[in-house]
Amino acid sequence: MELYIPYIPTLKKYKFMNKPIGIFDSGLGGLTILRALERAMPAENFIYFGDTAHVPYGSKSPQAVTNYSMQIAKFLEKQNIKFLVVACNTASALALETLVKNIRVPVFGVIEAGCCAAVHKTKNKKIAVIGTNATVKSSAYKKLLNVIDKNITVTQKACPLFVPVIEEGWQKTKAAEIIARDYLKQIKKSGADTLILGCTHYPIMKPLIKKIMGSVNLIDSAEEIAKQVKKVLQSKNILKKTGASNTVFYASDDAASFEQKAAQILGRKTVKARLKKL
Ligand code: DGL
Repeated sequence: MELYIPYIPTLKKYKFMNKPIGIFDSGLGGLTILRALERAMPAENFIYFGDTAHVPYGSKSPQAVTNYSMQIAKFLEKQNIKFLVVACNTASALALETLVKNIRVPVFGVIEAGCCAAVHKTKNKKIAVIGTNATVKSSAYKKLLNVIDKNITVTQKACPLFVPVIEEGWQKTKAAEIIARDYLKQIKKSGADTLILGCTHYPIMKPLIKKIMGSVNLIDSAEEIAKQVKKVLQSKNILKKTGASNTVFYASDDAASFEQKAAQILGRKTVKARLKKL
């Protein structure tokens, strides 16, 4: 299956090349996507928005998630971005259509890449998906996987405690292991040979998930998303290939705590974040 490639009208290269790429998530999870985007496109400029005032999105209603996503997208649009990456599965599952309709820049969600990668990997056609309550309830992964191949059996499991565990920096603790073992029990039983990490926070606890799941293929779609975004920008001739790069961070609450945790996840000495209340 072809990935959804956002429509981009003919763009004037000189006008768009230096504009930043906007990225957002409810908090820290989207940093796993930012990291992959920065690696794939080292000269690009980025603006990252973590909606720390409203994390977790996974327990909110579709209306609330769509409302927050729209406010962030509008703000990023005002910052003159050339492209928007919704680095959040929950927002991709619930708000993508609204964003595409209402935002003037091309919008890229994160669900298709994970589905395509999983379908390529599975041998026994049993795929499992873990995500937030809202993502699992939307069945966005299940529906798309079965559009690609109707013979695939999909097991879904919501893991709502993972996001707070990660936002608190507890991913290496005994408590995290107890929670993860309990959540993943059902996935192990399902016999799936491939597990999609259907929340951008989850790659932060990948070592623990790997330890519990053993030889199962883990799908972390960050690399694939970065490849696809690069391809789109290249095809439209608006990929910035040279010169210094810059990433600006915004958080909607407690920017200081975001700075400290983001620096840890990105492996940087410091991260400076501006406070932007929604
Ligand atoms: N990282 C997000 C996702 O991919 C949001 C998690 C949350 O805020 O509940 O779904």
